[in-house]
Amino acid sequence: MSDFFYQKRIWITGASSGIGEALAYALAAHGAQLILSARNEAELQRVASEATDRGAKNSLVQPLDLAQHDAIPGIVDTVLKQVGKVDILINCGGISQRSLVLDTPLEVDKRLMEVNFFGTVALTKAILPSMLTHQLGHIAVVTSLTGKFGSPKRSAYAASKHALHGFFDSLRAELAHTPIRITLVCPGFVRTNVSINALTGSGRAQGTMDDATDKGLAADDAARRILRAIQNGKEEIWFGGKEVLGVYLKRFFPAYFSKVLSKAKVT
Ligand SMILES: NC(=O)c1ccc[n+]([C@@H]2O[C@H](COP(=O)([O-])OP(=O)(O)OC[C@H]3O[C@@H](n4cnc5c(N)ncnc54)[C@H](OP(=O)(O)O)[C@@H]3O)[C@@H](O)[C@H]2O)c1
Repeated sequence: MSDFFYQKRIWITGASSGIGEALAYALAAHGAQLILSARNEAELQRVASEATDRGAKNSLVQPLDLAQHDAIPGIVDTVLKQVGKVDILINCGGISQRSLVLDTPLEVDKRLMEVNFFGTVALTKAILPSMLTHQLGHIAVVTSLTGKFGSPKRSAYAASKHALHGFFDSLRAELAHTPIRITLVCPGFVRTNVSINALTGSGRAQGTMDDATDKGLAADDAARRILRAIQNGKEEIWFGGKEVLGVYLKRFFPAYFSKVLSKAKVT
């Protein structure tokens, strides 16, 4: 991967845990300058300190709640005043779901959209003018295989991730004549706290690790694939275990795939 990320200013949301944390460490090893965001400042400080030990040039901790949309433009201004410009934004912050449609109040559906979709959109819109001014920038968005096909107990989560595909495919077309690039990242199962933090119908976190998540890819493996995709300017990547087959089945054998999903053991 040579020096592609060396000294680049890279803003990662969801940096306090899981894939975002692994991205921070992988980028630190390349000597990148990091801006680390999530809600939990203490966890961000822990990641920043580890990233510095692993070679990050600078690690700026910038707490941010993706559900507080009105605060986001001010936070972007603060960050830009400190770092000047952002070369790469990796939108990784998000929250999953473990509840049937019938057990999920609309408030929980809205919460998933507010964080996963509108939070990501708000941050992207706030940073885009600066990227255009500097005529540089790469925006990566961690969606999910659930952004390519729905599955039980993930209705609003899948909706929020599908919505990201619609938004960022449109944005990519609008930016086609600029140097700014968009990469959509669709992971399958990755071993992180995602299922522990996933919302149930009560609006509270599930609190337990799913089997499939526990058996998923290591977060540092996911991070390596994401960085390779950014470096290679990929528009979209999918990775994971056999769940990746779902993308092809949905596209070429949709009725068969519906049957598969209806019989799937869903956690
Ligand atoms: N692991 C998987 O199997 C998998 C598969 C497909 C897609 N993904 C996607 O990968 C991304 C990262 O998830 P992960 O697997 O690393 O799970 P994770 O360990 O639960 O990490 C989620 C990250 O998002 C942050 N976050 C959650 N709510 C937020 C909010 N309101 N504002 C700001 N940040 C918030 C969390 O930090 P705070 O709690 O500190 O805010 C944390 O840093 C998510 O978008 C997820 O949907 C994961």
